Amino acid sequence: FEETAYLIIHGKLPNDAELAAFKEKLVTYRELPRTIRTIGSLPLEQYSPMAALSIGIDTMRTILTGGTSPKRPRTPVDTDADTVAEIGANGEELEYKAKGNTEDNLEIAYRLVAGLGTITAAIARIRQGRLPIEPDPELGFAANFLYMTTGQRPSKTAERLMDISLILHMDHGMNASTFAAMLVASTQSDLFHCVGAGIGALSGPLHGGANEAVVHMLEEIGGPENVEDWFRKARAEKRKIMGFGHRVYKTYDPRARVLKPLAELVTKDNPEITRLYETALKLEEVVIKELGQEKKIFPNVDYYSGLIYKGLGFEPCMFTPIFAVSRVVGWVARCLEYLENNRIFRPRAVYSGPVGNEYIPLEERE
Ligand code: ACO
Repeated sequence: FEETAYLIIHGKLPNDAELAAFKEKLVTYRELPRTIRTIGSLPLEQYSPMAALSIGIDTMRTILTGGTSPKRPRTPVDTDADTVAEIGANGEELEYKAKGNTEDNLEIAYRLVAGLGTITAAIARIRQGRLPIEPDPELGFAANFLYMTTGQRPSKTAERLMDISLILHMDHGMNASTFAAMLVASTQSDLFHCVGAGIGALSGPLHGGANEAVVHMLEEIGGPENVEDWFRKARAEKRKIMGFGHRVYKTYDPRARVLKPLAELVTKDNPEITRLYETALKLEEVVIKELGQEKKIFPNVDYYSGLIYKGLGFEPCMFTPIFAVSRVVGWVARCLEYLENNRIFRPRAVYSGPVGNEYIPLEERE
């Protein structure tokens, strides 16, 4: 995760020293005790996890920038020992520069990349009535994310599965959430708000929300023996089959090719996931047979990722936040790049409604 994130943000692979320094930053910045304490005082279990994640980002922003405007000097915060890592060891001011890939912007980008994992893990635990766990500085990004969620150091297999999945979701061209983040960046708003916009766009079922929808769909089908009947009914009702189709790929999504065999790894000793996986295999066969040729509909990245997350112990409503934990890298990298030569996005719409309407006074309207 760390090496790929560096590549995406900086446009080159890190050397040894650069990677070590980047990892150290992420380890420092994943400590968010004040943010977690603040959002922990809310009834987060009643929020959708994506909404809770947005609140976490806004809270982090307020704590890091000291108020409503990121350009305003940070007001002093109370000095309990565990706030140190969150506000910067030297108490330095974080000033957001709206132009260019400045050092401060890069620091904020790093903080967001590190912070989303901590906030997401805390949300997952709070939803289950458990206390958030502090990050373990000995662990890499993927392992620490699993540790902060489950409270247990993960196996090597679980760590690698998480790592690969995070890498595959990190960036993907001009997808909807990346565009949403860049649109906000173009107004010279700050990176926290850009990431907030990305989270909003990612949460929809046609984008990042599909991974959760896939698992619910497989549960609804109930088993491979029900696939044919279920599919016929779904087609008759003109339902979209979740986890299939893509605006760009008119072939098998290469990320799904990687995730499919990995999903099989989590089925071991888990009859529930095994049944879902077998259902997924059968559905894939049926959908490709009918829609592959005809409409170029094939599995996308979301088809198998949810099974992996479920196998790693996450509840389905956490799948899309996990997507955000990774995609935040692409969001901040592209926002920083765009700001190098910024121009506000201002599309025009073609009006197609009636023209020449007269104003009718309120009391005369039907
Ligand atoms: N199931 C059934 N039919 C589908 C599906 C699907 N999953 N996807 C597309 N189609 C059909 C459409 O109904 C349409 O049929 P028509 O020509 O008879 O009207 C045709 O294929 C073209 O579909 P569009 O909706 O125009 O494709 P578009 O490129 O606009 O949408 C999208 C892409 C949103 C991903 C779509 O395939 C979809 O809704 N998929 C299900 C949700 C999903 O898995 N989203 C995750 C995408 S990956 C990501 O965001 C990380």
